[in-house]
Amino acid sequence: MTNLDLYAKTEHLLGIEEATEALYDLYRSELDEYKIKTLLDVGCGRGGFMQRMISDGVKCKGIDLSSVMIEECKAQGLDAECIDVADVEGTYDAIVAIFDVLNFMNKDALVKFLDAISSKLNDDGIFIADINTLYGFSDVAEGTMSAENDKEFLVVDAEFANDELHTQFTLFEKNDNKFIKHQDTIIQYFHKIKTFQNLSGLKLIDKQTFSLYDTEDKTLLIFKKRQ
Ligand SMILES: C[S@@+](CC[C@H](N)C(=O)[O-])C[C@H]1O[C@@H](n2cnc3c(N)ncnc32)[C@H](O)[C@@H]1O
Repeated sequence: MTNLDLYAKTEHLLGIEEATEALYDLYRSELDEYKIKTLLDVGCGRGGFMQRMISDGVKCKGIDLSSVMIEECKAQGLDAECIDVADVEGTYDAIVAIFDVLNFMNKDALVKFLDAISSKLNDDGIFIADINTLYGFSDVAEGTMSAENDKEFLVVDAEFANDELHTQFTLFEKNDNKFIKHQDTIIQYFHKIKTFQNLSGLKLIDKQTFSLYDTEDKTLLIFKKRQ
C-alpha cells in the first residue's frame, strides 16, 4: 500500500467533512463565473466535488495518484483514472486541485505539475487550487490526534519544521480477532506565493487567504492559461 492509499483509508476518520464541504462551496462559487462545460479534478479523492459539478451540468473527469480513491470514484460511476496529470488526454475549460493537493509536491515536482496543468487547459482555461499558509501548517495541521470506530483505530502525528509537515499515519484494522497495522508518512511542503508568480504557462490572476478553521489557514489561487 502506498502512503497516499493509506491516507485514503484513514480520511473518513479525520473529521474533515465540514471543511471539505466549505471548500467545495468556495470552488463552486468561483467556477460559476466562468460558465465552464468541462472540468478536470486533479487529486479528486473520492469524487465528491465531481458529483456536485456533474449535478450542475459540467462534464467531469477525475485523476488521483491513489488507486484506493480512484476505485471509490469508479464504484460511483465517475470517470476517474489513477494517472499523473501529464498523462491526461485532451484539454479542459477548468482544472481544480482541491484541499492541499499542491502541498503534496516539493518545489521541483510542483513546477513540472503546473506546466502539465497549463498544457491540459483550453485557451482562456482556468486553474484553481488551494495551499496551506504557514498558520495552516503550524496552527491547524501540526499535532497529534486519534480516532476509532468498531473496526479501526487511527493515530496521526504531525510535525512542522523547515517548511515541511511530516505526518505519520498509524492505522490498526480489525480482521477477525487480530489487528493489522499499517504505518506510513506523508510529507507536505509549504509554498511561498512567489513560486506561483511568473510561471511560463499560467498567470496568477487572483489570490484569497481565508479560514477553514480558526486561523487564516489557506490561500486560494486562481490562474489563467497564458496565451
Ligand atoms: C487531501 S486529499 C483531497 C481530495 C479531494 N480533492 C477532496 O477535496 O476531497 C489530497 C488528494 O490528492 C491526491 N494527490 C496527491 N498528490 C497528487 C498528484 N501529484 N496528482 C494527483 N493526485 C494527487 C491524494 O492521493 C489525495 O487523494
